Amino acid sequence: MDVNREIRTNLEGQTVIVTGGTRGIGLGIVRVLARAGANLVVTGRKAARLEALAEALTAQGTPFRTLVADVARRETSAEVARVALEAFGAIDGLVANAQSYRPVTALADVTESDFDLVLETGPKGTLWLMQAVLPTMQARGRGRIVTMGSAMGQTAAPGYGPYSAAKEAVRSLTRTAAREWGRFGITVNCVCPASVAHRMPVMEEGSDRAKAFAQMYADHPLGRDGDPEDDIAPVVAFLLSDASQYLTGQTLMVDGGGIMRA
Ligand SMILES: NC(=O)c1ccc[n+]([C@@H]2O[C@H](COP(=O)([O-])OP(=O)(O)OC[C@H]3O[C@@H](n4cnc5c(N)ncnc54)[C@H](OP(=O)(O)O)[C@@H]3O)[C@@H](O)[C@H]2O)c1
Repeated sequence: MDVNREIRTNLEGQTVIVTGGTRGIGLGIVRVLARAGANLVVTGRKAARLEALAEALTAQGTPFRTLVADVARRETSAEVARVALEAFGAIDGLVANAQSYRPVTALADVTESDFDLVLETGPKGTLWLMQAVLPTMQARGRGRIVTMGSAMGQTAAPGYGPYSAAKEAVRSLTRTAAREWGRFGITVNCVCPASVAHRMPVMEEGSDRAKAFAQMYADHPLGRDGDPEDDIAPVVAFLLSDASQYLTGQTLMVDGGGIMRA
């Protein structure tokens, strides 16, 4: 048996950029990729959060770089790619995870700045990074790009108009990139995760919020929230690995089947 054929999910020595890797789903992805042996380039906006992450990655011996980079600013994408190439000599994967949010707002009241923020950090920020990593991936004839959509883009939800539109734009860009770049050995896929607990304030048992949360999962196939590290990140790791080499332009609903009750 050829052992190498059996370990196609190994990311040992591969360099992966994760945007927004300091908390929530991005942090779960960073932790799993670190355990899979990847070199990591992690971005976020808040320096203190990046410093805390840097301490943890240093302690476990993961090769990494962190940098403050707002995905909404196009010039930072080139800088992120430059740092990755300078530190590790190659870029194998990009996880375009960062996204800024606006408070829930009825469509009738959405302002231009509300819409601009989610578009600039969602589809535009994703595209600028995809463009930044393209030349090196194309030159090497291999690349893995993972974008982040949302079930909300597909089902819609009152108060989430701009966010839903931004996330559907990300999925559309994912498909175009898959078609344009497939011949370069680059796969581009989108994950629609569900991992809500970390976005909620601490919930007291029996509170209205806790009840609403429980109700949300009452008719859910797996009946529970997703965990960034245990449930979402392993699928991202799969999409970054050779195990997914014949999969591109697709959306994976990593939501415990939640989309089926929508
Ligand atoms: N949570 C869910 O159930 C869910 C559902 C569907 C889709 N998603 C998608 O999954 C992804 C992660 O969601 P999440 O819930 O983990 O988000 P989150 O908890 O709000 O974390 C967002 C991360 O992105 C960073 N970030 C935010 N805006 C940024 C910007 N403009 N530039 C650079 N970094 C930025 C944050 O760092 P700072 O703290 O430094 O700003 C943080 O590390 C997003 O694309 C989201 O749309 C999530």
